[in-house]
Formats: sequence, C-alpha cells, structure tokens
Amino acid sequence: MSLSVALVSGKGGAGKSTASAGLAHAFVSMGKRVIAVDCDIGLRSLDLLLGFSRDLVFTWGDVLRNCCKFSQALLTRGNLSLLAAPLFPTEAFDTVVFELLMRRLREEWDVVLLDAPAGFPTGFSLAAGAADTALVLSQPEAVSARAAASCVRELHGAYPELPARLLVNRLYKRRVQGGVFLNIDETIDAVGAQLIGVIPEEPVVADTISRGQPLPDDAPAAQAFLRVAQRLLGENILLKVD
Ligand SMILES: Nc1ncnc2c1ncn2[C@@H]1O[C@H](COP(=O)(O)OP(=O)(O)O)[C@@H](O)[C@H]1O
Ligand SMILES: [Mg+2]
Repeated sequence: MSLSVALVSGKGGAGKSTASAGLAHAFVSMGKRVIAVDCDIGLRSLDLLLGFSRDLVFTWGDVLRNCCKFSQALLTRGNLSLLAAPLFPTEAFDTVVFELLMRRLREEWDVVLLDAPAGFPTGFSLAAGAADTALVLSQPEAVSARAAASCVRELHGAYPELPARLLVNRLYKRRVQGGVFLNIDETIDAVGAQLIGVIPEEPVVADTISRGQPLPDDAPAAQAFLRVAQRLLGENILLKVD
C-alpha cells in the first residue's frame, strides 16, 4: 500500500523541504521506493536538497502541459526519485491532470512526499489534495506555532478527512531551558495537532541536506527522521526527544 504525505507549514523556513529530504532518505534506507514532488511553484528547492539540480531540465508543469514526456521530468537515483516544481507561478496547468499524475505516482511508488510552499497558495492545495496525511511543520516558538495553527485550521476546513500531524523541527534544548523556545507540550497546545515527532536543531543539517547529501546515519536528526518515517508506516515507535 502506498503512502502519500504532504509537508506543510504556515511560515516559510519551518523546515518543510529539509524534512521532505530527510524523510525521503529515511524511507529509502528502509528499502522503500520514494518519489518527492516539489509543490513550491516558483520557489523550488528539493532538486538542490536531494542532489538532482545538475540533471534538472523539465518539471511536472512541463509534463502537465505536454511539453515533455513523464520520463524526461523524472529524476531518479536508486530508489529515490524527484519531480521538480515549475519555476514560474504564472505557468498554467490543469489541476485535474495533476491529480491524475499523483494517482499514477501512488500506483508506482511506495511513498510520495509532497513538499508544499509556505502559506496557502496553489501548491498547498495541490499537495494537501493529493495526500493521505499532512505533516504540519513548526519550530518550537510562538510565531511559527501560531502560523502552524492557522495551517491546521485551513486543513481541517478544506480537507476535513485529512489527518494533520505536528512535526516539531529545530528543537534546541538549551533554548527551551532558557525560556527562549516553547517546550514540546506548549508547542502542541499552540498548534493544536497530534505530535508525530521532534527533529533536533543540528549544524550537520546545513552541512549535508542543504548541500544535496543525506545526513550521516548516526546523526540524531537522521534517527529522528527515521522514527517519523516508521510511525508514518504505522509502526509503534516511542517518542524520543534528542
Ligand atoms: N533541524 C534543523 N537543524 C538545523 N537547520 C535546519 C533544520 N531544519 C531546517 N534547517 C535549516 O532551515 C532553513 C530553512 O529550511 P527549509 O527546509 O528550506 O524550510 P521551508 O521549506 O519550510 O521553507 C534551511 O537553511 C535549513 O538548512
Ligand atoms: Mg521549502
């Protein structure tokens, strides 16, 4: 059975694209065939974060407008594939054809990860509409959590059947202890969604994922992404906050 997950947030910079890449590598390490779909039209980044930018010529927008074959837009390395987002928000495409394309991906891949833009533009609706779970990203601080809460409300209103789970990103324990950050309970209360995991703040994220490489297996952030991936697949994994 395939799994289709949208990564959304109220604010930009919450870590949707980083988490999309981290989860993609985690699912691949579990032997799954994964396709990531960048839905951040005009501001794509997953081609960089997944190390495909040199090979990128066509996007899923080109597929939808019949400007290229599906195989020409599909970027693949081992069990990991990517469809990049169109560069220009003005590019016209048919959302019904996008839905058909997503249905095809679900038939051919084990996991589909949809990296949404910040806020609620077209790419948000495309990602949420094609998902069976939404991960709402929030950093453990008040502004990010308020934006994530508005995202949860938007999802509940427009996609009442879609489960929304909170993924707390960039937890830095010392800042929580110092009262700068919210703690996990406060973040859950502020966002109003069930927690699926906590990703620590780690400099190695910038040194690896931001440069198109997977995290080292033993990095706490890599372990945290793995636990989230396992939970998404229905495994009962204890919550661990590194
Ligand atoms: N857990 C983390 N630890 C350290 N840096 C992170 C972490 N998650 C994200 N970042 C950094 O935060 C920035 C924004 O992340 P990004 O994934 O692009 O956010 P979004 O897609 O939500 O706009 C990037 O520079 C990224 O490297
Ligand atoms: Mg992004």
